[in-house]
Amino acid sequence: MKGIILAGGLATRLRPLTLVTNKHLLPVYNKPMIYYPIEALAKAGVKEILLTSSPDHAGHFANLLKAGEDFGVKLYYAVQKNPKGGIADAMFLAEEFAKGQRIVVVLGDNIFNFDLKSAIKEFEAMDKGAIVFGVKMPTQSQQYGVIERDENGNVISIEEKPEKPKSDIAQTGIYMYDERVFEFIRKLKPSDREELEVTDLNNFYVQEGSLKCHLINWWIDAGTSHDELLRANNLVAEKVKNGELK
Ligand code: G1P
Repeated sequence: MKGIILAGGLATRLRPLTLVTNKHLLPVYNKPMIYYPIEALAKAGVKEILLTSSPDHAGHFANLLKAGEDFGVKLYYAVQKNPKGGIADAMFLAEEFAKGQRIVVVLGDNIFNFDLKSAIKEFEAMDKGAIVFGVKMPTQSQQYGVIERDENGNVISIEEKPEKPKSDIAQTGIYMYDERVFEFIRKLKPSDREELEVTDLNNFYVQEGSLKCHLINWWIDAGTSHDELLRANNLVAEKVKNGELK
């Protein structure tokens, strides 16, 4: 399995904090935000990771993270020319890096504390398909992709920011894909917000009945607003102090 961390975008929702820097370099309690997904992949045994970012900020990541030696991983970098291309557009940069292997993708502003290792093991045993990770969000699921799943974790539908959500399960930014993922990305068309949507990509797998959804307990997308960034700082501080996070 190869890892991909997406750290591009304009982060307009976090301005002025992001006027001269990338949101994934902002602090979350005692570390830059980008440390959390790198550490999560390293802990799961994913040793080769491609980090995608924008032309303005790729060098900042290289200054901070170098070749990945502080994390026990090998880091590679790719530049996404269009920062508004969307998640699937950024993933497409990883085609050569993946070299026909399966991939695990994490959005650079996602913070979580579950161990990805057992999910990777289950995924490697699957003939084909993909796994998404969902979190129960009784009140605000419509701000995310919303996942409808059966009791065995098979995904029945995913809708991007629906007005009437079919469930209270929000799609997080953690995904595992088989080697066909780049073929599917090639077929995507830009959405109304002009992005290649991860939800449209995941729907190729839903259509063939090969998308699984694992539920996780705790996850935060630190990059969505000033309030979520503040919440992430407070929650991480609490979890570091009680030993749940390092
Ligand atoms: C993206 C995805 C959405 C997912 C979310 C997780 O949303 O499109 O399905 O729930 O990431 O953070 P965006 O942040 O691009 O609005």
